[in-house]
Amino acid sequence: MSANTQTPAITAGDILALKGKQPIVSLTAYTTPMAQMMDAHCDFVLVGDSVGMVLHGLPSTLGVTMEMMILHGQAVARGLSRAMLVIDMPFGSYEEGPEQAFRNAARLMRETGAAAVKLEGGVEMASTIRFLVARGIPVMGHVGLTPQSINTLGGYKVQGRAEGGAQVLDGARAVAEAGAFAVVLEKVPQVLADEITAAVPIPTIGIGASAGCDGQVLVVDDMLGLFTAFKPKFVKRYGDLGVQAEAAIAEYAAEVRARLFPAAEHVFADQAPSKTSPKD
Ligand code: KIV
Repeated sequence: MSANTQTPAITAGDILALKGKQPIVSLTAYTTPMAQMMDAHCDFVLVGDSVGMVLHGLPSTLGVTMEMMILHGQAVARGLSRAMLVIDMPFGSYEEGPEQAFRNAARLMRETGAAAVKLEGGVEMASTIRFLVARGIPVMGHVGLTPQSINTLGGYKVQGRAEGGAQVLDGARAVAEAGAFAVVLEKVPQVLADEITAAVPIPTIGIGASAGCDGQVLVVDDMLGLFTAFKPKFVKRYGDLGVQAEAAIAEYAAEVRARLFPAAEHVFADQAPSKTSPKD
């Protein structure tokens, strides 16, 4: 166990208090260096279960385990001293009921130092959220497209169109009434996102939702152009690092094959091997 036991500078209460004041900034992170780069710029950093698809090559988030979340949560915690750390509860770790959810949420927080958990679901998860919050676990909700339910939703479709909007709105209301400090709205129509933002007293964090949400979150590898298997419409590429990385790898490979790397400045000593100190 190697939890970051530092008290985070930004707390769930601070995020809640930002509603209606200033937009909340968030990205996902899975590693220490990324978390370090985000710490000064994000209000909270999410260790999303998207890690399974983005870093582990899984076809969906369903195969993500508690152990994977803990490993990446610990790495991210080491990179943060200011931004709040929120961690996703993986599929199967909370849906059975409040006690199972508490056991696994407490483990995630204890072993990573995360200050809150995020879980997917609306009305059906309200009693679980209430149970966790009453026992000291800040919870972020997640409604609209809930990727852990793709098998019942029938894919990664926009949620809440036409009469489906009421269900998403009811879900966001239920999550807020249960005590969540914020709720992610994923892949819902803009007008619905704006309606929910006006209807609930907690910040809405949009991803494929609306600029009118109280905050935004993106998957970092999407916005940096590092994950290119597919690009949802709602992703804006702020960088093209995948292309740059592949070009660098190709240049390295060509230089190794041409014996151009390593060059003189990359090698040590010019003494005969017998005189070389083993510490060189
Ligand atoms: O896992 C994830 O990346 C998410 C998104 C909402 C950012 O939950």
